[in-house]
Amino acid sequence: MAGPLPLGDPAPADGRLPADLRLDPDAAFSAYLHVPFCRVRCGYCDFNTYTASELRGARQDAYADTLIQEIALAREVLAERGPLRPLSTVFFGGGTPTLLPAGDLGRMLGAAIDAFGIVDGAEVTVEANPDTVTPAVARELADAGVTRMSIGMQSAVPHVLAALDRTHRPENVRTAVDAARAAGLAVSVDLIYGAPGESLDDWRTSLETAVGLDPDHLSAYALIIEDGTKLARQIRRGEVPAPDDDLQADMYELADSVLSDAGYDWYEVSNWARRPEGGAADQRSRHNMAYWRGTDWWGFGPGAHSHVAGLRWWNVKHPAAYAQRLAVGESPAAGTERPDADAAELERILLRSRMAEGLPLADLGPDARTRVAGLIADGLVDAAAALRGSLVLTLRGRLLADAVVRALTD
Ligand SMILES: C[S@@+](CC[C@H](N)C(=O)[O-])C[C@H]1O[C@@H](n2cnc3c(N)ncnc32)[C@H](O)[C@@H]1O
Ligand code: SF4
Repeated sequence: MAGPLPLGDPAPADGRLPADLRLDPDAAFSAYLHVPFCRVRCGYCDFNTYTASELRGARQDAYADTLIQEIALAREVLAERGPLRPLSTVFFGGGTPTLLPAGDLGRMLGAAIDAFGIVDGAEVTVEANPDTVTPAVARELADAGVTRMSIGMQSAVPHVLAALDRTHRPENVRTAVDAARAAGLAVSVDLIYGAPGESLDDWRTSLETAVGLDPDHLSAYALIIEDGTKLARQIRRGEVPAPDDDLQADMYELADSVLSDAGYDWYEVSNWARRPEGGAADQRSRHNMAYWRGTDWWGFGPGAHSHVAGLRWWNVKHPAAYAQRLAVGESPAAGTERPDADAAELERILLRSRMAEGLPLADLGPDARTRVAGLIADGLVDAAAALRGSLVLTLRGRLLADAVVRALTD
């Protein structure tokens, strides 16, 4: 089940925040609610998620009530430290949140809103597997306050879906998108490129099919081979080929060209939103932008990570251990850390340099700033944006984003 948690320091059993931590009452505040259940595990996935046989007594039908206990704890801990901040964004991720009844998701959302309040026009996203979305589910979620659905499409090509071990029927993606839209939800679709046996033409088919669904937002991720997954074992045994970096780079360039021709702008290396023309709404994921900008969020659920005023902590991973902690009135946090200034700068560069809004050059230390001219000369960083004071990646820079970060931080 996913890699080990970071080490960090032990977290206090009562969940209290360090006395010297200064919370900013005006900073935005978000909530991530993890739902750690999947019907089957996809061969490539190492998210903290469990199928029925892996639950070791944890009960899916009691999950909403357990998570609501963590919401009560969070309210108590934060109320002690100043005025509570209303939620700017809420994100149900997984796992497969839509494996739970919509009523359970609605109850968790209601509890979070009762505890903290919510800003007008807040973004509330639910991740969904295409097979689990019906018109009734989408309507019930919208009635509960959900505003956006992120659908795991991955590919439109049957042999690629099979290589990824996806069990959903490709035609259900359209059904799920139509259901979400009819309920008034904004729609995002997730795609993966570089699966074993996937050609550039297969990828073009998936991109064109995705664009044909007219979503408000798309994410396209290069397939990552995670240790411990079935796919990693298949590659190690030589049963399937490892992803080819050059082909994945061509696939990224194709994605950017198909999506930008269809009216989508990149705003983070793996994310595109419909161009807001003629006063249309901005469709960028505000929740993900909150992460990348380093604002405050509380992550609820097993294995979820939180970040408040520079302090990070993470919960125990297994849903059974998570429920046991909360049942005896203890915080589910397993560990905590307070990154020093160097670690915080590295993380800021890592996240902000991947965004189209860019990393303010003024935020770079003197050493890093001297390297920007070389990155411009190599065609990795946009010269005009740099003149305006921001580091923004070019298309070539987006393909080599990790190398740019290394050049700035080594
Ligand atoms: C946690 S999943 C949630 C969506 C839902 N469970 C589903 O898969 O239909 C979020 C997204 O992460 C991406 N993802 C998961 N594992 C990945 C991997 N190893 N490489 C690239 N993308 C991955 C997939 O695109 C997936 O839709
Ligand atoms: S459905 Fe989503 S979370 Fe579940 S195993 Fe597949 S990719 Fe991972």
